[in-house]
Parts: sequence; structure tokens; C-alpha cells
Amino acid sequence: MKPIVSKDSVVYFGQECYTALNSYLEKANHSKICILVDSNTHENCLSLFMSKIENEYDIEVIEIEPGEIHKNIETCSGIWNALSELGFDRKSLMINLGGGVVTDLGGFVACTFKRGINYINIPTTLLAMVDASVGGKTGVDLGNLKNMVGIISESEMVLVDTEYLGTLPVNQMCSGFAEMLKHGLIQDVQYWEKLSDLSQLDFEDLDQMIYDSVVIKNKIVFEDPTEQNIRKYLNFGHTLGHAIESFYLTHPEKPTLLHGEAIAIGMIMEGYLSSELLSLTKNDRKDISDVILATFPKINIDKKDYQDIMNLLIHDKKNENGNIYFVLLNTIGEAKYNCVVSDELILQSFEYYDSL
Ligand code: GLY
Repeated sequence: MKPIVSKDSVVYFGQECYTALNSYLEKANHSKICILVDSNTHENCLSLFMSKIENEYDIEVIEIEPGEIHKNIETCSGIWNALSELGFDRKSLMINLGGGVVTDLGGFVACTFKRGINYINIPTTLLAMVDASVGGKTGVDLGNLKNMVGIISESEMVLVDTEYLGTLPVNQMCSGFAEMLKHGLIQDVQYWEKLSDLSQLDFEDLDQMIYDSVVIKNKIVFEDPTEQNIRKYLNFGHTLGHAIESFYLTHPEKPTLLHGEAIAIGMIMEGYLSSELLSLTKNDRKDISDVILATFPKINIDKKDYQDIMNLLIHDKKNENGNIYFVLLNTIGEAKYNCVVSDELILQSFEYYDSL
């Protein structure tokens, strides 16, 4: 598969990943190299990665706890201290081997340590392959607020090797699938149709489907790397989805929601808003809800939590001058950003989801 080139980075696929990596490591002559893993990728992915490195390098392994609750500044502090104690300088390299938490947080640590060292992303989850590791968004959560602190700066390269998915649990695969569906919904009706016909989907096609998703995302990011305009499309489903995810993160008595599971709910609700405010047809709205609910379990959101979730919308990063902006759909494959939605309609979107 042809590498996908962005402004400052390149996404490589399959075995070509390691040809590119080995040649980069040889040329770059880094003073030190570390690899950031969590305990899952330490156990399941690190030995595969190490077996692909041709030359002898002294690679320091830094391990963090897995999961979104550790995506915070305290974890960063631990890594900054470790890098400092290990004598990492500005010619050092950090390799992030993991899911979205590792690539977002590791990228942020790399971009800020000594004002920035090079980093490489090696996503090991579907979500990180099609979304988190591509496009240079790095950062951490602030309390329960998602990705509040961060910086946009692309990695040297992204290496997408689907062999890492072999040990990934099904719910994590579905979580990534939500972002792939989003790419179809905002930009490519044919891709949406291909993904939505679940009976036709074959695991053999996974590499191609991931590739197509990265092409869609990269095209958008290439045109608008700093999210001044069309990169906002990538937030479809995320305005309500992030608020729901944040709310569930701080309510351990409620079911744990993975990022993609929250975004799946957000896409159904924002599909509803699209049909009320823009030209998305009720048929397409039903199609979106049906396809998503065929993959994701319906979550029973307590009516008394609606307002608390809505209160979290004021923290959305797309907001400007006190306005809460949504990305909605004119039709499947065509999105619109900066849509203003009344509280009453947002409440109705909760009721729509509840009614399914
Ligand atoms: N995950 C959305 C973006 O990269 O813009």
C-alpha cells in the first residue's frame, strides 16, 4: 500500500513500516531512543516491534498504566522526569507504541520535553490507526474534560501494522469502527455504504478499509491542519459524544464507555439534530441509527443525567464567544460545521436516542 503523505509526516502500512523505520533510525542518528508502552502493549506488542528493528539500539522502555483515566498531566510528569533522569536531550526520539491514550499523551510529552523532541506513532488499536495517531493532535485530559491540554504537531511518521490488532478485544475494535463510520458520514457516502453493509464486511478487507479511512482523514487534515475550518468535520458525533464520555468517566457506578462507544451515541444524536436543522432525510437518519445500533449496545442514559451532560458542552473545544457549535450532516457524505443548536433540540436528541 502506498504511503500516505501529509504536511510533516508520512503514514506507512504493513511491512513497509519497518523498512521506513529502519532506514529513518539509521539516518537520524538519535542520541537516545525510548519507547512508550502501557502494560497491555508491553505484554502484547513490544516483542513484535523489537523483532523488526534491524540494528542494535539501546532502547529505553517507559511503561504507563493503561486507560483514559491515566491520560493526565501526572502521567506526563512521570515520563518527563524519567526522560530527564535518563539524560534524554533534544536529539532524542520517542516511539509511542499503543492506542490513542499512548499516542496522544506520548506525542504531547515529546512535543513539550525540552521544547520538543521527535516522535513516532505506532498505533496498536483500530481507533489509533484510523484516527488518534494521524494528524498530529496530541494532549491529555483535564479532570474529566477530554483533551483540554495539548498541542498540534505531527509525528515523524505513523506506522500502521494490523498485526498488532491480533490481541485487541472486540469492544476496542468496535470503538475504532465508530471513527471509520464517521469518516464515511462526513465525507464519503460510498465508504459509508461499504462499511454499513455489515453482512458483506470481511476481515480480509480490514487493511484496505483502514487505508481508506486514513486517506479521508489525511485529506482533511492536509487542507486544515490547525482546525480553522474543515478539520472541524472530524468532530461529528464528538460534541455530544465527548460530553457523554466525560460524564461516564466521572461516574464509575455507571457502565464504562470506550471513546468510540460514546461517539457512536453522539453520532446518532447529532444525526437526529441534522435531520431537524439541515437537510438530512429521516430515512438517512434511520439508516445511521440502525447501522450504529447493529454494532454498538444501546446505553440507557438516565433522564435525570441529561442536564448534567449538557452542562459539559460548554467545555467543547469548538466553542467560540460562548456559542456551542456542532458539526451536522447535510446528507450522508457531506458535513457542515459551526451549527448552532438550541437546548430544547439537544434535549430532544436525547429523547430520540432513548426511543430507539
Ligand atoms: N480526531 C479528530 C482530529 O484529529 O481532528
